[in-house]
Amino acid sequence: MIYHRRPQWQLKENTVTDEHLFLNRRQIIAGMGAGAGLALLGSGASAAMQPESPFSPRPARNPAFADPARPVTPESINSTYNNFYEFGSSKQIAREAQKLSTDDWVVSVEGLVDKPFQIGIEDLIKRTGVEERLYRHRCVEAWSMVVPWIGFPMRKLVDLARPTSGAKYIEFATFKDTKVAKEQKASWYPWPYTEGYTMAEAQNDLAFMVVGAYGKVLHKQFGAPLRVHMPWKYGFKSIKSIVRVRFTDKRPVGFWESLQKREYGFWANVNPAFDHPRWSQATERPLGSEERIPTLLYNGYAEQVAGLYKNNDQGRVNWF
Ligand code: MTE
Repeated sequence: MIYHRRPQWQLKENTVTDEHLFLNRRQIIAGMGAGAGLALLGSGASAAMQPESPFSPRPARNPAFADPARPVTPESINSTYNNFYEFGSSKQIAREAQKLSTDDWVVSVEGLVDKPFQIGIEDLIKRTGVEERLYRHRCVEAWSMVVPWIGFPMRKLVDLARPTSGAKYIEFATFKDTKVAKEQKASWYPWPYTEGYTMAEAQNDLAFMVVGAYGKVLHKQFGAPLRVHMPWKYGFKSIKSIVRVRFTDKRPVGFWESLQKREYGFWANVNPAFDHPRWSQATERPLGSEERIPTLLYNGYAEQVAGLYKNNDQGRVNWF
């Protein structure tokens, strides 16, 4: 991506580099409990390699979200082509991201709620349950993918948090630990990464909290152990490795928006008719292919989300 204060940061859109061989696919931990599929996450992993821990049994696929009308992206491709700036600004951060420890991961729920609380990730999953959904993902850099995510509706998190009537927005924050994520030493970035949505967006059926993919616990480079996926918005809105959820009456300013609001607006709804200042948004390249395919308004999810924006201007990328 994305914001370039220094010319040498200018990234070319990298070609897909198949680095998956360095991920040890044989370190499978079998026999894990169902809802507690995260139980062993990280606990047996060396800092360098994350075992691929299957959800057992694999959560059922929700039939309402089972047909993205595009082929699923091979895991070997998108698990080695990631945006996770905490670990570097190239797409090849998968190895570096293994430094993240997800042991004893706790999420703090704060702000305009009846009672702030903290909850461990395993507890959270026990409370919400999990399901599988096939979702499209469209990055503003004009590449896209289809992923079988495992997770739970964001609405369930909202219900658990019990926001007060004054809450108008939900904001998420990623961890901050410069010992683990070396790029967080870069002072020109406003760490930690944050992103926010309106309460209506957060409670839309599509808004999804992700804890796994491809039948397994989330790869660290995907944003383990808990990330968001808002499939009708550009990818930068889907924040990774969440440690804080905050309800607020003020519109949050996200990580990229605070760097360059003319390029990364709050709404950031996928819209082929509205170009990013540096990239056309008319077409996209599915990861793993060289073809370009047309981009769809709201990434193909207009039926589910257009109603959220009827008073606005059809999902422009840079609404301020
Ligand atoms: N979340 C955090 N914490 N840090 C990031 O750099 N990058 C965003 C989003 N969430 C990012 C993040 C961007 S730009 C995209 S396109 C997606 O994550 C990429 O998700 P993926 O690596 O799973 O494809």
